Amino acid sequence: MDALADKKALNWSELGFQYHKTDYRFSAVYENGAWGAGELVSSDLISVHEGAPSLHYAQQCFEGMKAQTTADGRVLLFRPDLNSERMNLAAVRTLMPEVPQAMFIDAVEQVVRANYAWIPPYGSGASLYIRPMLIGVGENLGLRPAKKFEFRVFASPVGPYFKGSGLSVISLAVSALDRAAPSGTGSFKVGANYAGGLLATRLAQQLGANEALYLDAREHRYIDEAGSANIIIAMKDGSLVTPRSNAILPSITRRSLMVLAKDQLKMPTAERPIDLRAEFDQFDEAAACGTAAVLSFVGKIWFDDAWHVIYKDGQSSGPVMQQLYDLLTGIQVGRLPDPYGWTHAVKI
Ligand SMILES: Cc1ncc(COP(=O)(O)O)c(C=O)c1O
Repeated sequence: MDALADKKALNWSELGFQYHKTDYRFSAVYENGAWGAGELVSSDLISVHEGAPSLHYAQQCFEGMKAQTTADGRVLLFRPDLNSERMNLAAVRTLMPEVPQAMFIDAVEQVVRANYAWIPPYGSGASLYIRPMLIGVGENLGLRPAKKFEFRVFASPVGPYFKGSGLSVISLAVSALDRAAPSGTGSFKVGANYAGGLLATRLAQQLGANEALYLDAREHRYIDEAGSANIIIAMKDGSLVTPRSNAILPSITRRSLMVLAKDQLKMPTAERPIDLRAEFDQFDEAAACGTAAVLSFVGKIWFDDAWHVIYKDGQSSGPVMQQLYDLLTGIQVGRLPDPYGWTHAVKI
């Protein structure tokens, strides 16, 4: 079943992070207080009422996860239970119905199986990106929650999020715009957070950076996160730190990396406020992490009208991030043992 002949004729190793229409997606509707069974559908279009609250008031949330092919042809998801948990936290925060975990994982598995031909082969550096989403549909002009919802899961083969393969070096520019307020929706994966970030990303890119870096909205002092990834920093004292903030997305990748650093690299780890200006000189290595970004070195950061360089003298990697990258991706593609039970094989 794993022969390349069963696969689409894509140039897998050249893929960027772009949408490719695959054959099937899953769709289920919630109405009158209950979820329908849902089914695989082939159309990539959703027909919603023009008064749908997802369109006007951003009553929606989504997830991002990946399926990867192992050397022996198995297909692995990475910690899908945490994607389900996080989607349900967002659902509760935005007054939408939770999607039962069994239904969520079954839908993801159905989509992966039905699009088997689109799952990039082992060693290509590409993966099948899976996008579960929950949206308020149906007419609702007033500012009220929807009465009807759609849970949809689609997938697309993707390459690296940031250009360059494997562990790429990126730069970040501190944004003058805020992403999320301290008690707002920053810790939930809701579209509203991202609409506000589009301009921040554009401005960062105009400075030559890959992505915006947000500081805390109250003092503009402590690191929050990047536009599409959390931040981890290897300090000169040998510890690995990551920001503590209730305005950032609780990244599944970051949670996994912190465990790997502590258990496998025996590093002291801490989730704590990180004062960018006061602590920058103590940064040894920094990286942005996420499902899409995987682990991308942060080579320099723009703040206070200047570039501040972390990786000097043409260095393109640091030993801590390189080891973390190898450990994480090794587990994700089944190259290394998975003592934590993080991977979830999809029956093909
Ligand atoms: C704003 C933001 N932060 C962090 C992450 C990383 O989260 P995860 O590791 O769960 O993909 C993402 C998504 O990839 C994101 O959109």
